[in-house]
Amino acid sequence: MARPPLDPRTLRGAETTGTHMQSGRNRATRWTTIVCCVVASFALAVVSGAADLEVGKELYEQCAQCHGADGGGRSFYLAPSIAGMDEWYVTSQLENFKAGTRGLHADDKGGLRMYPMARSLTSDYGGTDAEKIEAVSAYIASLPEVFPAPEVTGGDAVKGAALYATCQQCHGAAGEGKQLLNAPRLAGTSDWYLVTELQEYKQGIRGSNPLNGPAVLMRGMSNMLANDQAIRDVVAHIVTLKPATQNGN
Ligand code: HEC
Ligand code: HEC
Repeated sequence: MARPPLDPRTLRGAETTGTHMQSGRNRATRWTTIVCCVVASFALAVVSGAADLEVGKELYEQCAQCHGADGGGRSFYLAPSIAGMDEWYVTSQLENFKAGTRGLHADDKGGLRMYPMARSLTSDYGGTDAEKIEAVSAYIASLPEVFPAPEVTGGDAVKGAALYATCQQCHGAAGEGKQLLNAPRLAGTSDWYLVTELQEYKQGIRGSNPLNGPAVLMRGMSNMLANDQAIRDVVAHIVTLKPATQNGN
């Protein structure tokens, strides 16, 4: 069912300002305004998809400093490209960070930066936490994919293609991801980040919290890659992948 749109600028309690000075007429006007707003919200709820994106766009302003306005990522901040990622995956990771089942390992440099950001998506300024996560995830999923220029050197894409044969049952032949298996899209993800994550799964920096089943599973899979060279090779192959589908459709 459609929901009324969220407005992150709605300050809780703002409507109580100056109540004791109000004349009956002002109060009537205020009620008329509230009733109109409620009616308008329901009317807008019909197009709530669009409204969610507007809210998501506003929420995304605080993410852009690290992930870039286009969602293309910034290695300097350890923040990967996220533009056009599937909504289900963005939501799941924001929930994981928020719950602390991802990003709290003492050696997880990137995760420790992202953890407080996910925690900041709270209901403080109206709407529920879940609605905020949903709105910003929808916005990120709607961004055109960015395929960042490769930054990792020393990988052999041909050897990597052979290694990727074991990954594709979950992540798809074109790196498009498979929601049924909780396996995210890998195509278009920053290559330096893929390398870091694979190293971190192997070392148990990511995927050691038993409450995060998909991460525990992927931690096991990372052991199919024998060493850092194998990681660079498979990532050199992944950067060549460009699935035909856009925005997870
Ligand atoms: C201070 C910098 C910073 C800000 C601001 C920030 N992020 Fe992040 N984000 C990161 C880093 C660093 C990572 C990589 C985490 C890791 O290495 O595990 C990350 C990872 C993520 C991921 C996981 C990507 C993946 O492939 O698993 C998502 C989703 C995400 N951020 C969304 C957001 C959203 C939404 C916001 C705004 C509410 C935001 N980020 C704000 C730094 C930031
Ligand atoms: C049995 C299914 C399965 C196989 C096989 C598998 N993965 Fe995964 N992979 C997953 C799941 C599930 C996740 C999500 C884990 C999480 O939420 O932390 C994941 C996550 C990842 C991530 C993190 C992506 C991100 O945006 O943070 C990378 C990188 C990755 N896999 C690479 C690989 C590579 C390379 C291989 C082959 C060597 C592989 N995977 C094989 C299921 C699989």
